[in-house]
Amino acid sequence: MDYSQMGLIIGLVMTVGAVALHFIRGTPWTPGEDITQDVLERRAETVSETDFPEPMNRAIGGGGVAAGAVAGGEAGGELEEGEEGTEETSGPGDIPEDEIEYFEIEYVKEGETIEVANNETLLEAGEDQGWDLPYACRQGQCVSCGGQISGDSNELVEHDDQQMLDENEMSEGYVLTCVAYPRGEFSLETSETP
Ligand code: FES
Repeated sequence: MDYSQMGLIIGLVMTVGAVALHFIRGTPWTPGEDITQDVLERRAETVSETDFPEPMNRAIGGGGVAAGAVAGGEAGGELEEGEEGTEETSGPGDIPEDEIEYFEIEYVKEGETIEVANNETLLEAGEDQGWDLPYACRQGQCVSCGGQISGDSNELVEHDDQQMLDENEMSEGYVLTCVAYPRGEFSLETSETP
């Protein structure tokens, strides 16, 4: 047998082998059990619990916070209303009908003594007489309506939230007539400031 015959035989054997392998049924492959869920659960167990919302929940959490803020705002609004209500009923001019008193106040420059109620400001009482008394803000925040009384205004008047006069000026008798309610009798020089 020469080399060419040997090669032919080897080629034939390989071809037959390949054809045989093609037709032989191999070991069937069967998929294993699906462990995806197990793996996910085990991995989840290794992650420690957190106090903050998961990333996907942040929008919801944020919404919750926003809702809280809105709720807080509403609560704040209610509180403010309550506070306003309190302010409305707690000013020095808010005096029940049966506790209203009148004090004789001499308006020196105007040359008259009038009765001023304890729920009326010195400015309003003077204006009711038709006097042209000075004022600007009417809220105790400037000194345009300033005046001076014959005594200590810490005792003889009650200011409604004035922010301009200090205690010494008030002990010298200075008042802001737009927010000063009488608590005693005195004479008043209008258009006087410290
Ligand atoms: S008018 Fe401004 S304090 Fe009286």
